[in-house]
Amino acid sequence: MTTQAVEASSEVFPIPLAIMQPGTVAPVNIYIRIGRPPVMSLYKTAQTPLSEEVRERLLERGVSELYVRREDEGHYLDYVERNIEDIIRDELLPAEQACRLVYKGSSRVMIDVFENPRSGRNMKRVQKMVGAMVLSIMKHHDALWHIAAMAAHDYYTYTHCVNVSVFLVAASRELLGIEDEKSLRRIGLGGMLHDIGKSQVPDEILNKPGKLDAEEFDRIKEHPLVGVELVNGITKLSRVSEGIVRGHHEHFDGSGYPDGLSGERIGRLVRLSTIVDVYDALTTRRAYADARKPFEALELMLTKMPEQFDRTLLEGFVRFLGPREVGVEA
Ligand SMILES: [Fe+2]
Ligand SMILES: [Fe+2]
Repeated sequence: MTTQAVEASSEVFPIPLAIMQPGTVAPVNIYIRIGRPPVMSLYKTAQTPLSEEVRERLLERGVSELYVRREDEGHYLDYVERNIEDIIRDELLPAEQACRLVYKGSSRVMIDVFENPRSGRNMKRVQKMVGAMVLSIMKHHDALWHIAAMAAHDYYTYTHCVNVSVFLVAASRELLGIEDEKSLRRIGLGGMLHDIGKSQVPDEILNKPGKLDAEEFDRIKEHPLVGVELVNGITKLSRVSEGIVRGHHEHFDGSGYPDGLSGERIGRLVRLSTIVDVYDALTTRRAYADARKPFEALELMLTKMPEQFDRTLLEGFVRFLGPREVGVEA
């Protein structure tokens, strides 16, 4: 180890040791905090692989955090994204950290997806992140609550997509008993891409604070079909994922769009996606409305718009979220 120090600790940020996967090369310098008073010392240079033995030695010394320079954050995040599934599987990584990586990583990918929705590379990145998200939900029973606590309170289409994906995967397990990883990945991908068609709607319409006129509303209503068309131009979506992108604005009473389906003609996963979609929109701050507390949102859905939803599923969703104060700011 060299003793090359970083001038001030504000130049670095901590990362969990479990992120550095043995056998991989992270293209960033890694620092360690040593001595009394503690100083930052260069531990490993970029391009030097981390070995299992080095990791064990660090663990024996009680080191659980390493440090990366702020200016290297982009390279560091690329490394995390490349190795995300192995990192999530790592037994050393605590649940809360796993959820943070998945939430932040998914948000980062979705920003790029909305900027460049026709990129095949971005689509692969989304699929990988969804895989990691499903793994964390399957591995950590309290993953949803960690994620809900860190979820953004301001509404952005990209974070909304991440939130819907996470809640939909967790609720599909809990309410529909879906446990196999492949199905959960398809569900998660549908949630993540459900509003991708909005990338083709001008921001002035999407973020309009006042009421939309008929023409503007028609434009918004195109987004499910536009989304399906857009994604199918890049990759072949599974029936499950496509059903969610296409159907998440159908209403149980037949008043929704684009197909005006009603009742059980809407698949149960799609019926669940409509619940999760409205719940997340209500609990985040919009240009035209404040964020509602979870119980207020659920009450509103049960009393003011019950005809939109499958009552049994909505009641199940309320019971599922009920015991927790989901995402309530401290
Ligand atoms: Fe939508
Ligand atoms: Fe949505």
